[in-house]
Parts: sequence; C-alpha cells; structure tokens
Amino acid sequence: MNLPSADTIVFFREALLRWQEAHPRPMPWTGERDPYRIWLSEVILQQTRVEQGLPYFQRFVEHFPTVEALAAASEDAVLKLWEGLGYYSRARHLLQAARTVVREYGGRFPNSYEGLLRLKGIGPYTAAAIASFAFDLPHAVLDGNALRLLARFCSVELPIDTTTGRKHFQQLADTFLDPENPAAYNQALMNFGATWCTPQNPRCTDCPLAKECKAFGSGTVLQLPRKSKAVPKRVRHFHYLVFHHDGALWIGKRTDQDIWKHLYQFPLIESDAPLQRSTLQTLPAFREITGGQAARFLQQVGPLKHVLSHQLLLLNFWEWEVGEGFALQGPYRKLSLERARALAFPRPLQRFLQWEGRP
Ligand code: ADE
Repeated sequence: MNLPSADTIVFFREALLRWQEAHPRPMPWTGERDPYRIWLSEVILQQTRVEQGLPYFQRFVEHFPTVEALAAASEDAVLKLWEGLGYYSRARHLLQAARTVVREYGGRFPNSYEGLLRLKGIGPYTAAAIASFAFDLPHAVLDGNALRLLARFCSVELPIDTTTGRKHFQQLADTFLDPENPAAYNQALMNFGATWCTPQNPRCTDCPLAKECKAFGSGTVLQLPRKSKAVPKRVRHFHYLVFHHDGALWIGKRTDQDIWKHLYQFPLIESDAPLQRSTLQTLPAFREITGGQAARFLQQVGPLKHVLSHQLLLLNFWEWEVGEGFALQGPYRKLSLERARALAFPRPLQRFLQWEGRP
C-alpha cells in the first residue's frame, strides 16, 4: 500500500485548513481547552450527530459543570441525562472515568495520550481528540468521518472494520496529521467529513480536495469506504408485562450483562419467536413473575420494531389491571407513573410511558 507523497500531504493539510477558515462551524466545544468539556462532547458525539448531541452536551455541562460534580453524581442521574442516546455503557463508563480522575488524579485529566487511554471508556479516538484539543499533542483522530475521507482521498480498498484495515488507516491518518497544528487539523477533518465528504451526498463538485482525490478520479467515491461482510442481526422477542393499579405500575432495574444494563424496565419475558397471549400466560416464567395472582388483561401494544447496531428487537407490551393486594416476586417496585418517568428507561420504553392513549 502506497503512502502519499510529501506534496500530497501538504496539499491535503492546507486545503483542509483553508476550507475550515471559509466554513467556520461555531459549536460550544469549538476552541475548547478544558479536557473535561472536550471529553464530554466527544463521548456524546460518538453516539449521535452534532445537531442531536448539542442539547445533551448542554444538559450535561449544566448539571455537572466540573469533573468533580460529575464524579459525585449517582449512576441513575447520569443514565437519565443520557437517556435516548443509546449504548448506555458509555454513560456508565463516563461516570467511572470521572471518579477515577477525581480520586486518583486530584481532579486533573492526564495530559498524555497514554494516560488518557487508561481511563474507562477512553479509546484511541477520544484520547486523540482530548490530547490534541486540550494539550496540542500530535495525535490524529480516526473516527468514521476521518476513515471515509482518507479511504476516498487515497482510494483505499481495505475494509475499515478489520484489524489490517484499521492499522493502515491509522498510519495514513498519522501521516496526514499536521504536527504543528493538531487541534485545528483534527477539527477541520471532523467538520469536513461531517458536512462535505458525507456518506451519501458528498459535495465533490465544489470539493477543495477533488483534484487530488483518487476516488473522485476513478469515480468510486460512493463505493468507499469498504466494509467486510455485515454480520446478520440477532432477532429477540421481548414481552413486557405492564401491571397497572390505580395509576401505578411495577418496574425493576436491568442488571444482567446485556443491552440497557442498569436502565429500568417492566417485568420481562424473552422468547425466540412471537407469542400468543394464551401461550405467554402458560409459560413458567410468567407464573414465576405473577405467582399465579389474578390480573385482568387490558391490551397488547406491539410488536414494535427497535433496531440496534447488532440486534433487532421486537417489543410487546402486555398490559394488565391488577387489584389492591397484588405483589410481585423479584426486584420489582410499584411506582406512580410520574415517579417512573423520572427514571432512565430505554428509549422505546420511555416512549411507551409518555404515550397518550394509556388505559
Ligand atoms: N464529531 C465528533 N467530534 C466532533 C467535533 N469536535 N466537532 C465536530 N464534529 C465532531
């Protein structure tokens, strides 16, 4: 695999920086030097686009203006602020890393790439972003935007989701990085990838890199970057048992090593295939939860499709009316709808709770 010539490297850097000057994108984290705020913004922006991430960033900074404030928060409070972003382990790791920074580093972020990498949830991307933006260290960010841009500009056919591919792209990214100006370079690269060299509608006709872009030259822009074969998604059928009594319902916390760990939910039965109500009610799991107590069936909501990166969930909400003395086995608590809504639920469950047409 060829590495770019010195002339190409200089052309790429200068064109990107000139483009950035002509297309400023003022965001709360633009030019930010505080590693805490940079870290927050980068972790949020790994989950979502800039426009959707902005209100999350603002809420986090408002609630937790410093790493000490975040470290003192409860996990429930952090998950609630993260609610809707998905990939909730990121939120839990955020809290763990904040506690480490306060406890072991006296509230100051490590000022080296290697030191940052030791914190929970900080991988090469986040470490490079913090190292360059906060400390001017020469580390190239390699996020989806950077991968796409580099794959196209250099016409790299290696898949981006393999170890060999990643190694090659990291080498390319390090080669292109402007060591004199890593913060401005990294920021320009991200903004350019996000707004110009986009996945579906790249603006090649007014692209300042086009004349040296190999994919543009060969008409393969839309075919790059390559990925190895997609893994088929695992299909799961979730059956939530929603028991209502006098404006209250029963909820519990998810504790298993699984999606949505430490978020709240209704009593749950999982099956490999769709279920009729008559089958559901005869399952041992159903009896285990209800202990055979009487419940009057109200309605089924679903199945609702919920797509995650590696799983397809089919969610069913089975709603029941129960009497005064009803009590559940296991980790479930009876809570008013209002109190339940203040807890962190997976997005489709939060939607269900907010839903108007409730019985
Ligand atoms: N995406 C991830 N980090 C970003 C940043 N700092 N600016 C713009 N887009 C981003």
